[in-house]
Amino acid sequence: MAITYFDDSKSFKLDTVNTTYMIAIVDEEKFIGHVYYGKRVSDQNLNYLLRTEEPPFVPSKNNRDRSSFYDSFPMEYATHGIGDYRESAMKLRTEQGYSAGKLSYVTHTITNGKEKLQGLPATFGDEEDCMSLSIICEEEFTGIQVILHYSVFEKEDVITRDVQLVNKTGKPVFVEKVFSCCLDFDGKYYDMITLHGSWARERHIQRRAVGLGKQGVASIRGESSHQDHPFLALCSKEATEDFGEVYGLNFVYSGNFLAQAEESQFGMTRVVMGIHPEEFRWLLKDGDLFQAPEVVMTYSCKGIGQMTRNFHNMYRRHLIRSKYKNMERPILINNWEATYFNFDKQKLIDIAKEASKLGIEMLVMDDGWFGNRYDDNRALGDWFVNEEKIEGGLKSLVDEVNALGMKFGIWFEPEMISPESQLYKEHPDWAIQIEGKPITLSRNQYVLDISRQEIRDYIYGLVKNILSSANIAYVKWDMNRQLTNLGSKFMNCEQMGEISHRYVLGVYEMMERLTKDFPDLLLENCSGGGARFDAGMLYYSPQIWCSDNTDAIERLEIQRGTSMVYPLSTMGAHVSDCPNHTTGRVTPFMTRGHVALAGTFGYELDVTKISEEDKACIPEQIALYHKYAKLIQSGDYYRIANVAEERYYDCYEVVAADKSEALITYVQVMNVANSHSRRIRIKGLEQDALYEWEENGLVQTGAAYENAGILIPSLWGDYQSILIHLIRK
Ligand code: DGJ
Repeated sequence: MAITYFDDSKSFKLDTVNTTYMIAIVDEEKFIGHVYYGKRVSDQNLNYLLRTEEPPFVPSKNNRDRSSFYDSFPMEYATHGIGDYRESAMKLRTEQGYSAGKLSYVTHTITNGKEKLQGLPATFGDEEDCMSLSIICEEEFTGIQVILHYSVFEKEDVITRDVQLVNKTGKPVFVEKVFSCCLDFDGKYYDMITLHGSWARERHIQRRAVGLGKQGVASIRGESSHQDHPFLALCSKEATEDFGEVYGLNFVYSGNFLAQAEESQFGMTRVVMGIHPEEFRWLLKDGDLFQAPEVVMTYSCKGIGQMTRNFHNMYRRHLIRSKYKNMERPILINNWEATYFNFDKQKLIDIAKEASKLGIEMLVMDDGWFGNRYDDNRALGDWFVNEEKIEGGLKSLVDEVNALGMKFGIWFEPEMISPESQLYKEHPDWAIQIEGKPITLSRNQYVLDISRQEIRDYIYGLVKNILSSANIAYVKWDMNRQLTNLGSKFMNCEQMGEISHRYVLGVYEMMERLTKDFPDLLLENCSGGGARFDAGMLYYSPQIWCSDNTDAIERLEIQRGTSMVYPLSTMGAHVSDCPNHTTGRVTPFMTRGHVALAGTFGYELDVTKISEEDKACIPEQIALYHKYAKLIQSGDYYRIANVAEERYYDCYEVVAADKSEALITYVQVMNVANSHSRRIRIKGLEQDALYEWEENGLVQTGAAYENAGILIPSLWGDYQSILIHLIRK
């Protein structure tokens, strides 16, 4: 049983193959205490860890100083205002303005399988895959029902959490904070791993010591963002890729979030994760239910690498729904870096003709095909084909591309409106704005108030018309600015604080419609590069554009950070032209291909203009993609070395789940004069089996490759790369 309730100890035990999570109800008080999370144990009762008999923390025996208890007890879901001064998980404000809360256990249910989360993306599993626990509690000051949900995916070593608030009190309540997860660790001296960046520098890894006080990662930008990421791992000081304890938490949500660790006075560490309370205030009327998004948690006692592999397996099996998730994706060529806005039908056909000869399988027409979109200052919202550019209309272009044996894909940015657009002329009040005040421009555009049904219906209707008008196989859904000036004259004051979350729910609703209406469509999410590369989006699209930075060397860091949580099969990665458009760096064409192979693989260049030498590499790269796509999509990922630490080289590996083969990518970022070959130790192979290094015939055991390693010759020049394919004999 993955979930067991023990009546004698009033405790719940949640077991996965390698982990145990324990919760207990403190009998008289009905507090819900967090007992343990870590390596699997067989014991049924660890309630002594709650210290309920240890003065001065005994709640029933120390009434004169109950606050000592509140401020030290490991709460399963902490409330605010009665004495626990650490970060609370929930804050409800009554009509009178009171906000203190106290949570007590009422009852619970244990079921097989997992229910859907209303209106939100979430992991899924049937009765074979998981069990779920609902702890039904009451917040005593308001009478609001709080349901703590847990689903245990035994095989994946994953536990998911989410929270529901139900108002049956006859009175409204304002929800000012409702996190999805609160986790008290009995210990300190942890390190925290988070992901940060900027446009073209997404998800760089940061590791730091957790100290006293609050520290974390957050976005209040209306999206998960380039700058910060809804992921936090807490690990032991000595944890490396392969050893040590690691707890990984990932938020299945694409809007504002907070993920925070806090070391408190008694040497405990509290971690919370959920919707950021800033820009959030929800009116929960009588009869209403509020569903907080899901947090996915995994524990590894085998280092950061195992945490990564747990997330990858979980998301490949239980989050991504698209029919493409296990399929080879069409190798696409996108015209963005090839032409930017300067293209017409003939240009696209020229690219497609050349690309099809080389084995490229799909043409994607990026930004600039609609309205009077001749640059990025206008036309967002006018989703009508510009026939000056696309002469003869979209169908004729798509048919011609199809006749070349290629599929066709198209770009949209449905959530936006340009001040210079027909749509804005007709509906200036459709932009998110504070009435009568100027709206902050970003890329010369405003954000549509997608929280409103009529706007969603209108925009989605236009997208649907376009998609129904021709044989379109793929959509790139972009979002190029963050939210500001939160306001709408259609919202009353009581609900104005709901816009950010309602916006995200609106985006999810549109994507749900799109994927239902066009089940064969391959959807790729994008947000000015990778600003919305998150688990929420993966529920709708099996791949997400990782970054506008296509420089092979900078991509190493971006893809490495992204790989912390997300499988390689989800990372949009393209070979582009040099000098690279974001860095000016010149790298070998083959290196660009090797790095893009650790993703969905495609091209983003004008194939009619590149050198014959570069062009000649394309069929070779395409053959590599076909050879390795399955392995890369489904294999176990290992980080071996990274340029940020090693300075001179980068190396990672994918091993087949049955360990029959492995592909190692080695990039020599900088050559070193007067150096010999470099020893690299391979990971994850079957110890006693023999493997042949396909490129040079070396045969050794898995144990030798792992412990003794292989020698990689010094390559001539900077930015050189090689692939090493090991095949079990
Ligand atoms: C940002 C995306 O990341 C790019 O790939 C491209 O689609 C542009 N937007 C188009 O405006």
